[in-house]
Amino acid sequence: MSDRTDWCLDPNLDFLNHGSFGATPRVVMRERVDLLERLERDPISFLAPERDLEASLDHVRHILAELINVAPQDLAFVRNATDGVNAVLRSLALEQGDEVLITNHGYNACNNAVRFATQRSNAITRIAEVPFPLEGPAQVLQAIEAAISDRTRLLVIDHVTSATGLVFPVRDIIKLAHQHGIRVMIDGAHAPGMLPLDLRAMQPDYYTANHHKWLCGPKASGFLYVRADLQSETQPTIISHAYNRPKPDRSQFTSSFDWMGTHDPTPILALPAAIQFLSNLRPGGLATHMRRNHEMAVESQVILSKSLNVEPPCPAEMIGSLVSIPLEGLSLSSAYQLGAALYAEERIEAPVFEGIPFNLTKQDSPPCVRVSLQCYNNLDQVQRFGEVLRKRLNLG
Ligand SMILES: Cc1ncc(COP(=O)(O)O)c(C=O)c1O
Repeated sequence: MSDRTDWCLDPNLDFLNHGSFGATPRVVMRERVDLLERLERDPISFLAPERDLEASLDHVRHILAELINVAPQDLAFVRNATDGVNAVLRSLALEQGDEVLITNHGYNACNNAVRFATQRSNAITRIAEVPFPLEGPAQVLQAIEAAISDRTRLLVIDHVTSATGLVFPVRDIIKLAHQHGIRVMIDGAHAPGMLPLDLRAMQPDYYTANHHKWLCGPKASGFLYVRADLQSETQPTIISHAYNRPKPDRSQFTSSFDWMGTHDPTPILALPAAIQFLSNLRPGGLATHMRRNHEMAVESQVILSKSLNVEPPCPAEMIGSLVSIPLEGLSLSSAYQLGAALYAEERIEAPVFEGIPFNLTKQDSPPCVRVSLQCYNNLDQVQRFGEVLRKRLNLG
């Protein structure tokens, strides 16, 4: 079990927002500091790829590959999911009139990377309109299928949506896209450490995710998986030595992502300590840990829906560890005021969002409040949060 003392979090704050930037256990921070001290003792040996760095990164790559069931050589490291999405979108050769399909639940930064790539090629960003609240995963598939055209080249889909906290049926979405000859990039920013991941079974063309959210690694690190035959056309966001200096014994793909100029690799190198910490929390390891977080999320959905007098906006099967509840009847500006007051006056950290980030058709979509719970949280905090919401929203 983990208690609050394993973490640096302010004990006077009910931190119900693990999802935004994660949190890192003290033991993982200490590992990172040890690594930094080793780096500073002998910077050349530590950082020169051909001395220690390649081997150190390969060690982490193998551990991660095992966790998400993929071949290590198909994994590159990136700073974060935004970086991973940008690398793919900026490498993509789009032609005038080509379409890239995103959803209205997508993360703004990543959707902007799509907009940038389409605008510079006179291509089109199309948005599939997934409803929220919704009854089940079939509605996600229907919305995406309805927006596919014969010009769709790429689908960029969140595995777990940020504002609405939905686990999208990515395996079925990928199957559907492949039937239409369309590539799929999954933005799995939240997925590792929240959901069991099996990339061999899922078969995305590209998948990127963060280590610093639910795997609790130091900020900032993540991975980018690219299907083997697409790797030669996928460049990192920073072009460096490997572009014209291929190494006979290493793939161009891993070499070019491994060195993007001088940087701090310790957030990546401390990842095994984070995986070990989470795996040792309970008998049954990481799988049990993720299930317990999920169970806490499902109970939170019930508690908060009751507190706010609304129906749960999605079935429990579409929840991972993020729970978003509509604040019906509240304007967006009042919702933002509520969010600020929660932090400043109630010492509760929980984000308040525009419900559907890209609400094109202006469907009835109230703002939402989100909780994302990690093993340092408990349901008493959620109960108190529900009572605070009732009081502040005059719900009796
Ligand atoms: C779905 C999704 N994609 C991408 C990101 C961006 O993560 P980062 O800022 O670490 O790149 C987030 C962050 O919350 C997210 O929720």
